[in-house]
Amino acid sequence: MTVTVRPATSADATELAAVAAVTFPLACPPSVTDDDVADFLGSVLSEDRFAEYVGAPDRTVIAAVDRGGIVGYVMVVDGVVDDADVRAAVTALPAVEISKLYVLPGHHGEGVSHRLMDAAVNRARAGGAAGVWLGVNQENVRAQRFYTKQGFEKVGTKRFRVGGQLHHDFVMERRL
Ligand SMILES: CC(C)(COP(=O)(O)OP(=O)(O)OC[C@H]1O[C@@H](n2cnc3c(N)ncnc32)[C@H](O)[C@@H]1OP(=O)(O)O)[C@@H](O)C(=O)NCCC(=O)NCCS
Repeated sequence: MTVTVRPATSADATELAAVAAVTFPLACPPSVTDDDVADFLGSVLSEDRFAEYVGAPDRTVIAAVDRGGIVGYVMVVDGVVDDADVRAAVTALPAVEISKLYVLPGHHGEGVSHRLMDAAVNRARAGGAAGVWLGVNQENVRAQRFYTKQGFEKVGTKRFRVGGQLHHDFVMERRL
């Protein structure tokens, strides 16, 4: 089966939100409640939000597509968020955030995530970034292992709100 990557457009917003609804819970620790997940999906990963993201000048959404449709995506965001913990941890500047790298479970371990990461890093390099950074839940061992294989190192921690709960993330960075 062939999976290709391409920039997402507003026409993809419904499918991107559907992929997010399946994959976001996989990135969360078991303590996250269904209400918290629903709150996050509605406020951050809805169809309307994706329609905004694909049109934003400081963001790029890249979709992985097979014959059946979108099977994963990554969002790249220019800069470092306004968070003291992230600003203290990220030292390769200018930096780009690798945000929301999600692949449907049926396509884990197939290299789809690698292709999305390559596309995100190429986009960061093309924009002149010296490094890329991301946040990953401290209990999401699979994702941490993937990011380590991709050349990221843990450089700090930060907090991340999902619904009513604050969670603890590692901040990971890769110099380009
Ligand atoms: C994170 C993600 C993009 C990685 O893509 P992937 O295709 O699964 O990545 P890979 O299979 O190449 O690498 C994952 C590694 O973790 C290992 N692994 C799998 N399950 C694991 C587990 N429960 N604990 C620890 N390691 C695990 C795999 O064996 C593999 O390592 P290996 O190549 O040395 O064998 C994908 O799993 C995903 O979309 N997960 C759900 C959403 C998510 O967590 N996104 C990241 C948010 S920060």
